[in-house]
Amino acid sequence: VTAEKAGFDHFMLKEIHEQPKAYRDTMSSRISADGASVTLNELSMTVEEIRKISRVHIVACGTAFHAGMVGKYVIEKLARIPVETDVASEYRYRSPIITKDTLVIVVSQSGETADTLAALREAKRCGAKVLAITNVVGSSVAREADDLITTWAGPEIAVASTKAYTSQLIAFYLFGLHLAQTLGTQTADEIKEVITAMKALPEQVEAILAQADALKVVAEDMAKHDNLFFIGRGLDYAVALEGSLKLKEISYIHSEAYAAGELKHGTLALIEEDVPVIALATQHELLEKTVSNIKEVKARGANVLGIAVEGEEELQKSVDSTFIIPKTLDVLSPALAVVPLQLLSYYASLARGNDVDKPRNLAKSVTVE
Ligand code: G6P
Repeated sequence: VTAEKAGFDHFMLKEIHEQPKAYRDTMSSRISADGASVTLNELSMTVEEIRKISRVHIVACGTAFHAGMVGKYVIEKLARIPVETDVASEYRYRSPIITKDTLVIVVSQSGETADTLAALREAKRCGAKVLAITNVVGSSVAREADDLITTWAGPEIAVASTKAYTSQLIAFYLFGLHLAQTLGTQTADEIKEVITAMKALPEQVEAILAQADALKVVAEDMAKHDNLFFIGRGLDYAVALEGSLKLKEISYIHSEAYAAGELKHGTLALIEEDVPVIALATQHELLEKTVSNIKEVKARGANVLGIAVEGEEELQKSVDSTFIIPKTLDVLSPALAVVPLQLLSYYASLARGNDVDKPRNLAKSVTVE
C-alpha cells in the first residue's frame, strides 16, 4: 500500500494529527472496561519476576531515548524502582552493571536501530530480561526481546518522529501502572485517577491541534533566529530535550535544551537581547522554581514563550507569550506539552523552506553503527 498524505502537505503534519488515534489505539485494549486497571496480557513476566526487579535500565537512541527519559520518571514515580537511562551507543561500550534482577527496556520505533539491537543483545548475554517497546511488529528488536509492548501508532514515514514518540510515552504509562498494580506501590484510587486522565488525552491533543495557527505565527518569528533555548525542570526537561531535537532536525536552527536550574552554571552567558527561549512550565510542584529561572533569562533580554497548563495565571505574568495546554496530571503532561513543540518545529522548517519530511543528513532508521 502506498503511503498517502491524506490531504496534509507533509507526512510529518499528518502524523502529528494522527496522535489522538495513536493514543486511543495504544491504550484502549489495555485498559479494563471499568477504567480501574491496565491489562498487559502480552507480557510473559510473572508476578514473581516483577517482584524481583531491583533496577531498570532504559536504552534507546534519538527521540526514543527522550521517551525513555520520561519512562524513567514514570517508573520511579509509580513503581518506586530505580531507573537508569542510557543512549544505546554508550551503553553497549561502557560495561554496564547488568544483573539477573535488572530489567532492560529498549525503545525503538523501527526496531532495527543497530546500536539499540546491540544493547539488547548485550543485556541478554548478561542474563537480564529485555522488554522492548517498538512500533514495528516482527522487527529485529521485537523478535529478540523477551517481552514486547507494541505501540499502535501505525507506519511513521517522516524522518522526524512524532506519533511514535508519544505512543512510546503511552506504553511507559501503561507499563508503569502495570508495575504499580503488581507491586502495590499505588492505591486503587491513584491508579484509577491516572487511567481516567489518560483517557482524556486524545481529546486534549485535538484541542491543542485546533490552535495550530497561533503556533505558526510564533514559529515564523523563531525561524529568523540562529540560536534558541528550551528550558524546563523534571518531566519538562525531558520534553525540552525532545522539542530541541525536533527543531534541530528539521529547521536546522541551533538549539539547546537545559534543565532550568542548571542555566546559571554556564548557558546563561549565551542569553542576550531577543534570543528566543521556550520555557516549559507544566509541573505544578516546580512552577515557582521555573518562574524564577524565567526571570533570570528575561532579565538578560530573552523573548520567552511559556508552555503552561490551563489555570496557571502566575506564569503568564512573567513571559512574553504563552501557549496553554489542557489540564492533566503532572506525570502525563509530556503527552500534551510535546505537541506544540512538534508544531513549532514543523512551521519553523516550512518557513525556512526546508524539506520537512526528509531533512538533510538524517535517516529514518539507522541500521549501521
Ligand atoms: C534515527 C531517526 C530518529 C529516531 C532514531 C531512533 O535517528 O531519525 O527519529 O529517533 O533513529 O530510531 P528508532 O527506530 O530506534 O526509534
